[in-house]
Amino acid sequence: MVEPLAHRASLFAGDWLANREPADHAARSSDLTQRLVRWIMTRSPQAEVYQMLDLGCGTGSNMRYLAPRLPGGQAWTLVDHDPGHLEAADRLCKELPGVSSFATRLQRLEEGLGVAIPDETDVVTGSALLDLVSGDWLENLAARADEISAAVLFTLSYSGDFLLSPMLEDDGWILRAVNEHQRSEKGSGRALGPDAWFQCAQAFEPRGYHVFSAPSAWVLGEPLRNLQVQLFEGWAEAAAEQRPNEAGRADAWLTQRLKLLDDVASETRVFHQDVLALPDDAATSPVKDGARPV
Ligand SMILES: C[S@@+](CC[C@H](N)C(=O)[O-])C[C@H]1O[C@@H](n2cnc3c(N)ncnc32)[C@H](O)[C@@H]1O
Repeated sequence: MVEPLAHRASLFAGDWLANREPADHAARSSDLTQRLVRWIMTRSPQAEVYQMLDLGCGTGSNMRYLAPRLPGGQAWTLVDHDPGHLEAADRLCKELPGVSSFATRLQRLEEGLGVAIPDETDVVTGSALLDLVSGDWLENLAARADEISAAVLFTLSYSGDFLLSPMLEDDGWILRAVNEHQRSEKGSGRALGPDAWFQCAQAFEPRGYHVFSAPSAWVLGEPLRNLQVQLFEGWAEAAAEQRPNEAGRADAWLTQRLKLLDDVASETRVFHQDVLALPDDAATSPVKDGARPV
């Protein structure tokens, strides 16, 4: 996930999630989705019902991407600590194609993974979540998924880099401050931030999982202008929080960035990674893709 502002109340506000959804869906790896489809079809060949669990679901963007692409028979449970998001998810997701049952659960992810991830879960997934979690949480998740032989798909984890065009002298300074902020305490231990996707691979490989990763960069131009504005504001605020003595420098950068958005056709690239971990080799023979084993 890219947002640096985990401290800000508005961070996961619905409009942020709505603004990012088209960019997220365009960026995600379809190769990893295909691999997951093949794994599910091998595991439930008769299109039996299978259990999907979406952690940190927000308003359900991850499910809106996956449901039409996965085989029918999906029983979804969506988990978040924000009741407003769950209400929206309920409204927006339960009639999606391929869904045979749908439930939401209000829960903090830190509260016992054994409870959060029921024994019958086939696939644990999450989008724009992993970079918020701590190393301990990720280890516990890997142990729990392994215990019940669940597949795991985490998409859109911020990988620590962005490229802005045209460039500004202080882009690199902002990037360094944002990445430090990403690795700061987010309420349940130091967040993994840009290291999350790789740590995820490293948590699953020793358990015998087959792990694949693929890039899922945002490429934002004029049609996603509002998302760019929100990103720049967030980054400037994160930089000011990391370097309080240089808050004016962050502010000056933001003013220049927003002016460039108005004056020229600017482009924003934000780099993410998707990670898929499969507990057996049913889906490891080649697909025609760029997804690579980690
Ligand atoms: C960046 S949003 C991503 C939402 C959604 N997966 C998407 O792709 O649009 C992160 C989500 O994780 C939820 N979240 C963050 N920390 C959480 C925690 N400790 N327990 C439960 N949910 C959490 C937030 O409420 C938010 O909905």
